[in-house]
Amino acid sequence: MKIYFAPFHGLGCRQFRLVFMKHFGGFDAVFLPFIPAQQLHQLKQTAMRDIFPKENTCEIIPQIIGNEINSIVYTTCFLYDLGFEKVNLNLGCPMPKITRKRRACGLMPFEDEIEQIVDRVCETSPVKFSLKMRLGMFSAEESIAILNRVNNYPLDEVIIHARLGVQQYEGKVDRQAFQTCYQVCRLPLCYNGDVFTKEDFCSVIQQFPNLRAVMLGRGMLQNPFLLEEIKGNMISAEEKNKRFATFYQDLISAYQQYFPCQTIIVNRLKELWKYFYHFVPLSDDGLQQLLRQQGDEFLSATCQLAEKSFI
Ligand SMILES: Cc1cc2nc3c(=O)[nH]c(=O)nc-3n(C[C@H](O)[C@H](O)[C@H](O)COP(=O)(O)O)c2cc1C
Repeated sequence: MKIYFAPFHGLGCRQFRLVFMKHFGGFDAVFLPFIPAQQLHQLKQTAMRDIFPKENTCEIIPQIIGNEINSIVYTTCFLYDLGFEKVNLNLGCPMPKITRKRRACGLMPFEDEIEQIVDRVCETSPVKFSLKMRLGMFSAEESIAILNRVNNYPLDEVIIHARLGVQQYEGKVDRQAFQTCYQVCRLPLCYNGDVFTKEDFCSVIQQFPNLRAVMLGRGMLQNPFLLEEIKGNMISAEEKNKRFATFYQDLISAYQQYFPCQTIIVNRLKELWKYFYHFVPLSDDGLQQLLRQQGDEFLSATCQLAEKSFI
């Protein structure tokens, strides 16, 4: 059973990934946050700088978003030429500004279009192509319709976040609906959604023993030691505390070297603290107060919190 690190657009930038993987690595693959599928002249430099050159921490799989076949084929070939053997298509992002344009999860109700994309990429692009989707945008029948269309293509794998797009990140994952996907899918399948503890992981693999992989997402941010715990490592609170504090110092240094101004750094860190606050002594109100702080005040408050993590 492989374990993957989920893509995090806006949070999981290159600097974050490099530092995070240095301190908490060991994944079989890391999926990169999505970049828009474009023709070469439109590919954004900032997006490319985030993914290239390829990190050498473990298998790195870039992800694209879009619905225009030629751009998708073009981008997959371009990424292949840059040294990425695998490329993933995002069919899961639920943000209305994206789904409204029939992209990401917004494309899930249109299985004809998805089949056409898969058909063309499999026919013309050398990459190993995979899909990351949800159970559906509006209904879990959408994933079943898609699986029935793509089952016979040589896709590398299908990753399913066991929620609907309309749920965003709320409500429960629907393991029963995922069970139907598990039965229908003849391609290598990866489970994703709400794996926050070792117990969650064990119950997923017990229920779905033939999965190729499980993808860890927010669970890793709420507990950066989750992967090691899943692998059976016992880590004392004292060691966790020391390691997290060192990681956090490294992260700030990496951001300071890369980002041009402190506001960007602080804003990026604030997004992370919405997850990190789970393992420091901070109430919900305390978090809101922390997020109102700016500049040096925020940096020094979070460094102090990192020193008190896991205790
Ligand atoms: C802030 C944020 C950014 C995300 N960015 C991406 C993305 O770029 N591509 C993608 O496929 N999923 C993205 N996701 C979804 C996660 O990769 C994952 O599928 C989702 O969080 C469910 O897994 P989890 O419950 O283990 O977190 C994002 C999620 C969050 C919270």
